[in-house]
Amino acid sequence: MSAAPLIVLTGAGVSAESGLATFRGPDGLWEGHRVEDVATPEAFARDPDTVHRFYNARRAQLLDPAIRPNAAHLALARLIATWPAPALLVTQNVDDLHDRLMPGSDALLHMHGTLRKARCLRCGAVHDWDMDLSTATPCPACGTAGGMRPDIVWFGEMPMGMDRIETALAECGLFLSVGTSGLVYPAAGFVAAVQGEARTVELNLEPSAGSRLFDEAHHGPATEVVPRFVENLLAALR
Ligand code: APR
Repeated sequence: MSAAPLIVLTGAGVSAESGLATFRGPDGLWEGHRVEDVATPEAFARDPDTVHRFYNARRAQLLDPAIRPNAAHLALARLIATWPAPALLVTQNVDDLHDRLMPGSDALLHMHGTLRKARCLRCGAVHDWDMDLSTATPCPACGTAGGMRPDIVWFGEMPMGMDRIETALAECGLFLSVGTSGLVYPAAGFVAAVQGEARTVELNLEPSAGSRLFDEAHHGPATEVVPRFVENLLAALR
């Protein structure tokens, strides 16, 4: 089998077995919080303290040594590093578990941003960020307080890197969707965009909303299904 340009799309399911909650389903983040209260520009304008508290808690979790990349992150990092054609990992996750295994890699794109960066609404500067944010946090670049926000994409905002993603989708020959419910656009539409041009594979705990659009699906926990699939895929190249 020859290798075609690869896109891997990941969602919260890939990090679930690392101890990070997914959004939907029992114990999901959206069970305990209303999206409109914490994940929209309107919520931030209305009640920035609540929004900061929500993301501060999630950022702090990433600094807990118990939260580590799992076997699925590892297999995907290996796949991207060894794939003999262009390969792009597009993640909807704002955690940094992919990053830890592929630091600084240009092949990793956080389309919903990342908790480990903060952005100043006054001057636009983006900074690496590990601390809590509050309405009193000054921007390290312009010194203004009150304008710092997590550098993540909220509902109603434009995902990051869409030009690059669209170019990659147009050339894609193999599309893997891993650990995502397929409910949030534009990511949920990627499989339809490559249909007929690319082999499409879903790897998820259960059938996603768009499951029937995929050529092939393997259902089960990511730490089992993903390493097995990646191993078979790479073996078929040899
Ligand atoms: N292994 C594989 N898949 C899993 C596992 C696991 N251990 N645990 C859960 N899943 C699956 C669930 O079955 C579900 O289909 O992961 C998916 C997670 O779905 P969501 O919680 O909806 O997360 P995601 O698809 O990443 O959400 C997309 O929605 O709220 C926004 O911006 C947020 O990026 C997020 C976007």
